[in-house]
Amino acid sequence: MAKRLYEELGLVNTREMFKKAMAGKYAIPAYNFNNMEQLQAIIGGCAESKSPVILQVSSGARKYANQTLLQWMAKGAVEMCRKDLKSNIPICLHLDHGDTFELCKSCVDHGFSSVMIDASHLPYEGNIALTKQVVEYAHQFDVTVEGELGVLAGIEDEVKAEKHTYTDPAQVEDFVKKTGVDSLAISIGTSHGAYKFKVKPGESVPPLRFDILEEVEKRLPGFPIVLHGASSVLQEYVAMINKFGGKMDNAVGIPEEQLRKAAKSAVCKINIDSDGRLVVTAIIRKVFAEQPSEFDPRKYLGPAREELKKVIIAKNTNVLGSAGKA
Ligand code: G3H
Ligand code: 13P
Ligand code: ZN
Repeated sequence: MAKRLYEELGLVNTREMFKKAMAGKYAIPAYNFNNMEQLQAIIGGCAESKSPVILQVSSGARKYANQTLLQWMAKGAVEMCRKDLKSNIPICLHLDHGDTFELCKSCVDHGFSSVMIDASHLPYEGNIALTKQVVEYAHQFDVTVEGELGVLAGIEDEVKAEKHTYTDPAQVEDFVKKTGVDSLAISIGTSHGAYKFKVKPGESVPPLRFDILEEVEKRLPGFPIVLHGASSVLQEYVAMINKFGGKMDNAVGIPEEQLRKAAKSAVCKINIDSDGRLVVTAIIRKVFAEQPSEFDPRKYLGPAREELKKVIIAKNTNVLGSAGKA
């Protein structure tokens, strides 16, 4: 086995995390971050609630924060967690939605402990070929790999739920066998962003396709499943954004009860980005509106960070069930 850079950074891959999550009927939170305050809130919230955590970085986040800086931010976060917060929670650094072999390789080479290759938009055989190539490289370093089958609706406001290409359960065994992936993201009705469903005020959102999830579980017993697009689009923060000058009409997400149900199944990883964005934006807008003379970034980023930490603790405790499991 080649040298594992991520172990030098104090990180772990997803293997043990998922094994325990499967046995314990909870899901590991995968929180996206782009900056220091989000990273502090995630680590602080997960340390306080004693939850394992996946720090999730998209290619856009990597470009935004700089790939080298990001690697050292992750190392710094681990050290802060161990030394200052006196917490030993397992921490994984994961590439979210990698779209090329080169990007996945670069993340492995920069100390990520897990990568996602999202080739779900390719024809089936192309998805298998690219995913297999990433698995073969990453596994040399014991970096775990997430693949995807089925396509989630996009992030655009206009995308309708009907545009999902749900995962075909008939393909999952063949895909996992041929690629060697460690986990599989599936499409059962979630979607990315803050506008997941087109519903009129008062209408409830369509339920997730638990029938597809159950069929996948039957065909892949004990295999870790991943849910993308799993923000609840917390209405308290949408309302705060709208109250303080924002405009987010009809923003709606996945009800928490449905995520709780998913977390008890083979779903071992639940991806959350939009909720974090909403919290940060809501608090910053509130500070700007209520204290217009304030211009010290710590005075608005600090409260945003504190609120995000609280939301993370609540999610780990009440939705994912991961609190107390580290
Ligand atoms: O699934 C996508 C994540 O929310 C990351 O979004 O590409 O804007 O960083 P991003
Ligand atoms: P949300 O947009 O629902 O937070 O989904 C995030 C995600 O799936 C990241 O990969
Ligand atoms: Zn995603």
